[in-house]
Amino acid sequence: MRHLMSPLDLSAEELDDLLTLANDIERNPSKYAHACEGKKLATCFYEPSTRTRLSFEAAMLNLGGSVLGFASADSSSAAKGESVSDTIRVISCYADICAIRHPKEGAALVASSKSSIPVINAGDGGHQHPTQTLTDLLTIRSLKGRLGNLTIGLCGDLKFGRTVHSLIHALIRYPGVKFILISPEELRIPGYIREDVLKKNNIPFEELERLEDAILQLDILYMTRVQRERFFNEEDYVRMKDFYILTKDKLAAAKEDMLILHPLPRVNEISVEVDDDPRAVYFKQAKYGVYVRMALILTLLMPNSIQVSPEGVTLLMPNSIQVSPTSANTTEGGSIC
Ligand code: NCD
Repeated sequence: MRHLMSPLDLSAEELDDLLTLANDIERNPSKYAHACEGKKLATCFYEPSTRTRLSFEAAMLNLGGSVLGFASADSSSAAKGESVSDTIRVISCYADICAIRHPKEGAALVASSKSSIPVINAGDGGHQHPTQTLTDLLTIRSLKGRLGNLTIGLCGDLKFGRTVHSLIHALIRYPGVKFILISPEELRIPGYIREDVLKKNNIPFEELERLEDAILQLDILYMTRVQRERFFNEEDYVRMKDFYILTKDKLAAAKEDMLILHPLPRVNEISVEVDDDPRAVYFKQAKYGVYVRMALILTLLMPNSIQVSPEGVTLLMPNSIQVSPTSANTTEGGSIC
């Protein structure tokens, strides 16, 4: 049984296959419409979410499965003091796979250590957000045709933005990637990413404060929101929140084929006038999030049912629900109810 805590839990080849599977799902949705019949996805969200939770749910429904879960800590027994470890042990009795989002770094990892079903980290505090990274990679690969040889500008709250942390981890595997890290001094990328990820792997990067100084050279501009909920005081947030506002005027200097990504939600950092620019792909990106989560659910839940080869993607047991004689739970690992 496998979990997904970080994008690096997938080898480069597995990641490639997963993105290919996601593209096949996009092209042939009906082929996958019954692949997860009889399976359940639990979404355990202790933090607000629109895209991540609903795209996970849409993904499982598109696969013919069903969903259950909670959308806030207040509506779960966390409000009564239950630990994540206990909650996941219970969820393991109700569902076949679980996506969890929690404000504390490492919470998903703790859950995975107590779970008898695959656990997907849907965001743990300011740490990682691997399924957003899968979404970002699928968007870039589908629309740009490659993941290597790109100059990527990451702009905004690079300190607390977990999507940025996960994306850097994943992209350093591709040759010819260069990062321009654009942030105010107080929201620079954490030291461990600068030292242990970028410098250690000899990845070229620059740190700048002004978007205008970088935009000209970018193939991808990845905008992020200032993460209000992670600030210790509101005054600092208010000072930082409108540091970057991407407008049509600023875009005038960018390459014709630069792509603008944003994990969303957007606050003020991209002016709505930019939405109509063909380079703005953040709403398309949200759609890719469904295909890639479908691919991930299939990969974790039914690893032996998918074969990706240069000839195409084969789904080996699209309609059959496997019920083992000893357990109704078809994922590996014994029940711990
Ligand atoms: C991101 C997150 O939750 O980290 N949103 C998302 O999942 N699409 C980015 C954010 O909240 O700013």
